[in-house]
Amino acid sequence: MNFNLSEDQEAIRSAVREFVKKEVEPGAADRDRNHEFPWGVFKALARDGYLCMHVPEKYGGGGADYLSYAIVIEELARGDAVTSVIFEVHNTLHSEAILHFGSEDQKLYHLPRLARGEVLGAYCLTEPGAGSDAGSLRTRAEKDGDSYVLNGQKTFITNGGVADQYIVMANLDPGKGAKGITAFIVTKDMPGVSFGKPEEKLGLHASQTTDVFLENVRVPAANRLGEEGQGFKIALATLDGGRIGIAAQAVGLVQRALDITVPYARERQQFGKPIAEFQAIQWKLADMATDLEAARLMMYRAAFLRQQGGKATREISMAKLFASEMAMRHTVEAVQILGGYGYLRDYTVERLMREAKITQLYEGTSEIQRLVIAREVLRD
Ligand code: CAA
Repeated sequence: MNFNLSEDQEAIRSAVREFVKKEVEPGAADRDRNHEFPWGVFKALARDGYLCMHVPEKYGGGGADYLSYAIVIEELARGDAVTSVIFEVHNTLHSEAILHFGSEDQKLYHLPRLARGEVLGAYCLTEPGAGSDAGSLRTRAEKDGDSYVLNGQKTFITNGGVADQYIVMANLDPGKGAKGITAFIVTKDMPGVSFGKPEEKLGLHASQTTDVFLENVRVPAANRLGEEGQGFKIALATLDGGRIGIAAQAVGLVQRALDITVPYARERQQFGKPIAEFQAIQWKLADMATDLEAARLMMYRAAFLRQQGGKATREISMAKLFASEMAMRHTVEAVQILGGYGYLRDYTVERLMREAKITQLYEGTSEIQRLVIAREVLRD
């Protein structure tokens, strides 16, 4: 067993660290204050070949391995969680769905455009009445000649309104339950597609989240992804990849918390000495560093297993669960270490704390990860 990154993976990590220092981190606090979508960063990610970096070169991607891709998400989140989630939804939930389930024509048409950043992607599964129980979604698809007509409402859609195209899960045959769900590529300019107002969220202010309304949207059969009735499996298999991304995001957030709290604890003097000399602070830092290392290893292993092919649902859900829970715990502790300063925007840790919360919720809550893990454990 080798725990070292390969030379290529190390090189990608160094390169993305430089990229984050120059392009991502400097404007992140202002974008958070101003609720400003990071278009400049998205363009820079396209320019430097990060979009679809793990898609085969044949389809316009960078041909990198999955662990390298996860490392990039981790480093982006260290600079700005918003950038990491926009990147992850575009690359995994949207592009990977096409890569793994699209026809050759769909892959050759869509993936190069997604890799060049000519279009931004989104993923529409959740509905007002179908969150954790995603299989109960009610958006309808009806076949009409050589097209499908979609009606329904999607909610909490990351990149909603700003994305150019959406992977939409709709039920073609509600009598079959989740086995009627079918996936479609819906573009923003199709008549009948509209968006709700951007949601006001606790964190991730610069990421746009909206409802997506579908009213008699006519989708050509060429835009169906996979087979009729295969949509729920496409949704869940794609979420396996997405959950690695959220684990990576959580790891990046806690790394940033450690980056801030360690020098602060060394410098901040109370009772005549740096607070780093108090055991109360040392133990918080020790726990943060230990959980961070454990979460990183779990996330790297999940990424490695996904690269190998085959199902790694159990390891992926474990990594997502552990990483997001520890991110919430330790970003709260980071605020505590900085005391009153931690509560101020200028010191960044409050932003990390607000951003960590969502990692326990999206792409399957912690409770859903436990349900998935328990099913896998009980099957053994
Ligand atoms: N890969 C491939 N297939 C899978 C799978 C996986 N990981 N997990 C399950 N399946 C298959 C099952 O084998 C089953 O197939 P059969 O019918 O042939 O047996 C089928 O899919 C249905 O699976 P289940 O019976 O397990 O379905 P369920 O309804 O009991 O439970 C669930 C599924 C795990 C609870 C699922 O609904 C779930 O993950 N819910 C959470 C939803 C979620 O994560 N939403 C995230 C929204 S996207 C988002 O958040 C993006 C963002 O904003 C950033």
